[in-house]
Amino acid sequence: MNRFSCYTLVTGASDGFGKALAIECARRGMNLILVALPGPGLHHLANFIKKNFFVEVRFFEADLTIEAECYQLYSNIAKHHLPVNVLVNNAGTGNTQMFTESSPEFITQQIKLNVLASTLLTRLFVPELQRHTPAHILNVGSLCSFFYLPKKQVYGATKSFIYFFSKSLRKELKYDGVSVSVVCPGGMNTNLSVSLMNRKANFLSRISFLNPERVAPIVIDKMLKGKEVIIPGLVNQVSMLLDKLLPAFVKNILTDKLMKRLKPVNIPTVQIHKDSSPMAA
Ligand SMILES: NC(=O)c1ccc[n+]([C@@H]2O[C@H](COP(=O)([O-])OP(=O)(O)OC[C@H]3O[C@@H](n4cnc5c(N)ncnc54)[C@H](OP(=O)(O)O)[C@@H]3O)[C@@H](O)[C@H]2O)c1
Repeated sequence: MNRFSCYTLVTGASDGFGKALAIECARRGMNLILVALPGPGLHHLANFIKKNFFVEVRFFEADLTIEAECYQLYSNIAKHHLPVNVLVNNAGTGNTQMFTESSPEFITQQIKLNVLASTLLTRLFVPELQRHTPAHILNVGSLCSFFYLPKKQVYGATKSFIYFFSKSLRKELKYDGVSVSVVCPGGMNTNLSVSLMNRKANFLSRISFLNPERVAPIVIDKMLKGKEVIIPGLVNQVSMLLDKLLPAFVKNILTDKLMKRLKPVNIPTVQIHKDSSPMAA
């Protein structure tokens, strides 16, 4: 079975980075399984992709913070006999609050989505990927995985998990024809609250922000080439280099300044998954 008769499963595909990744895969002729919370977004996107890119598109609504729904998603895909050769664990939620300002419920949901759902889906789909090689897993981390940032304590920790998990799993699966990549984007203008917040950032941060439509082709290209760690954007790559070179006290001053400028933006109509969690790198 070649890669064009299999499916690429993208979580969090109705919006933001997941949507851009899904469209980029479709552009390359890859069939898609789109997953997100119940709502009209998936249906519209599936129709748009089918009309414009002539690939097979299925979509499943699931709340991935609920363990049973991750299992249900897996069994629905198996029931429909949809062969999967690419798994993109993109669904995730961020925060820009002090730890004590985040509700215990929000923190729990964030860990469930960013860590548990990605890990569980990977465990469920690895045998399927092993049956349809060459296969790929793309886990969406963040540049935050590498820095200790106030107001992003739990988010950064969940993304460090994703980074370490991906790199270790890659070693286990490399002889099975399953390549594991982790992408660590900096800030992206993925949704309204993030874009508004990004506008308030300082000059250096602002020039590092990228649009998801620009990041997606780079990421899918590198994933298909089997790259281990993908850091999109020159400014973000330079930040990683500076992190290695600068002494700790200088980095502390810089991150303190940066985080003081980051304030959450409240947008009244956004649901709980998003309003307490304006996304940023
Ligand atoms: N934005 C950034 O600056 C940035 C930077 C670095 C890394 N990232 C990472 O990139 C990924 C995507 O971020 P984004 O900014 O594109 O987010 P987003 O615009 O908020 O989109 C999130 C997507 O995930 C879905 N989703 C949310 N909660 C879900 C749940 N419980 N179950 C299933 N699907 C759920 C949403 O579905 P609905 O539309 O149906 O709600 C939506 O499709 C995340 O892992 C994030 O950590 C983002």
